[in-house]
Amino acid sequence: MIDHQLVSGARKAAELSYSPYSNFRVGAVVVADDGRVFTGANIENAAYPASSCAEATAINTAAAAGVRKISTVVVACIDADDVDGAYPCGRCRQIMSEFDVDNVIVAAGEDSEIREHTLDELLPYRFNL
Ligand code: THU
Repeated sequence: MIDHQLVSGARKAAELSYSPYSNFRVGAVVVADDGRVFTGANIENAAYPASSCAEATAINTAAAAGVRKISTVVVACIDADDVDGAYPCGRCRQIMSEFDVDNVIVAAGEDSEIREHTLDELLPYRFNL
């Protein structure tokens, strides 16, 4: 069952996005296995590769607070046309893998379709040390 409050939280987090280069606002909510909740947004940089995706911002914030296992990541691309344009990038999938994310919820703006996947669906045969 998709938690719509978490989706609203990710959309709200997206409003705090710093994305003057792409104008593509993304928000993320991370639910840790201990129930703590963290949020993040994409933060861009004039040197483009120095930018941070919303999921990376939220996951790194959680990790810096001691989280090592994440149950759910919600990502909301509020400027995407639809949910197909709102899926996490490959780098973020690998970052999710590091903290053993179980489920990923994907949404675009208000009224968009919302989908839920396991991380295994999004990143099969993943790299691990
Ligand atoms: N972006 C994210 O925040 N998460 C993703 O999974 C895909 C892309 C951001 C990066 C950049 O700030 C903007 O979306 C356009 O690529």
